[in-house]
Amino acid sequence: MKKKSQDHLFIHSEVKVKLLGAYLQRYFNIMSNTPFVNTVHYYDMFSGPGIYENGGEGSPLIILRELKEAHFRAKSRKTDLSSKYKCLFNDKDLKKIETLCKNIKEAKIHYPEMGTLDYCTEDYKKLCPEVVKQLKSLPKDEKAFVFIDPYGYKDVRFSEIRDLLSSKKSEVLLFLPTHFMFRFSENGTPESLHNFINDVVPEDQWPKSETGLDFVENLKQAFQRNLGDDFFVDSFIISRDKNQFFCLFFFTSHIYGFDRMLDAKWEIDAEDGRGWKFNAASSNLFSQVINGPNTSKFEKELKAYLKERRSNKDLYVFTLQKGHLTSHAVQILKKWQDDGILVATLPDGKAARKSAFYIGWESYKNNQEVKAYFSTK
Ligand SMILES: C[S@@+](CC[C@H](N)C(=O)[O-])C[C@H]1O[C@@H](n2cnc3c(N)ncnc32)[C@H](O)[C@@H]1O
Repeated sequence: MKKKSQDHLFIHSEVKVKLLGAYLQRYFNIMSNTPFVNTVHYYDMFSGPGIYENGGEGSPLIILRELKEAHFRAKSRKTDLSSKYKCLFNDKDLKKIETLCKNIKEAKIHYPEMGTLDYCTEDYKKLCPEVVKQLKSLPKDEKAFVFIDPYGYKDVRFSEIRDLLSSKKSEVLLFLPTHFMFRFSENGTPESLHNFINDVVPEDQWPKSETGLDFVENLKQAFQRNLGDDFFVDSFIISRDKNQFFCLFFFTSHIYGFDRMLDAKWEIDAEDGRGWKFNAASSNLFSQVINGPNTSKFEKELKAYLKERRSNKDLYVFTLQKGHLTSHAVQILKKWQDDGILVATLPDGKAARKSAFYIGWESYKNNQEVKAYFSTK
């Protein structure tokens, strides 16, 4: 029998596509405004019908809305940089693809000038190697984003994600029902979970997870170790009920992609930038109590890090690796400057200008020279 969640978009799925939309808004804007990218490929490997019985919008509608906005924003700037987008929506259920096709037409959110739209009804297992092949042969000025949103984890293998990333021109967002995986891992691991985990890490190196959150963290670290330093791995936790954690994992080889995903996460979780909790008292997604960002743990970590002299570029990477925004680092450094405990110098040893920290992508990209060094007294 079909589960109700398969016909209805529930609140945890709404958060899932909210993060997808928030990230793609940033991604498409970058892609539409860079002279280095001409074509972007978007693959939705498990697309669903686009609109659910309760009216909720699924990933295809969310992405096309972001695409349309980015396209027309770029067009209004008349910069002639606008990239072309090639979208592929796949679902092995033909009926869902037919419904999706109809829903997209009726919503009038795609115009031929934005690029192409393709539909297919392949099994993911068959489609994935084909997409890997396409990604491997992309020319330099083409990029790709792959969204993988299966019902369970059994359909997906980590080796497939690794293959999808191997050209370093693509980013992957993967949804996993980590809660079910964790429960299974506690009570006699089934073959399918063994297979999934063994594909990421040798079994004797897989640590025991005490809680569902531990499980997510262990998985993220195992993904990161498997992919190595050329890639960034991030997670976004969606908790449906107490102790029911689902998770989106994001993979990119580009530090600015990692930066923008953090920005998207903090837009949704303004306190911790790491996930979303179902608030039973309210059905509104964004009515969580906002106390401002929790930066006290980061402040301690930053202080320990600045016991040694660090460059503005080191600080950028460190801030992102700690899951924080550069604005948080800047705010802390300003406070320390006012308190007289920050030493900020230019590369020639002279004192740096007050409030000039150069922590961000703009001062990092294109192998720029270090602009300043920082340490605490
Ligand atoms: C979780 S839903 C996708 C939801 C969608 N991303 C959204 O935001 O609305 C999973 C979809 O994958 C499809 N599916 C299941 N197994 C598949 C497979 N092996 N290959 C391709 N599609 C599959 C199902 O028909 C279902 O529509």
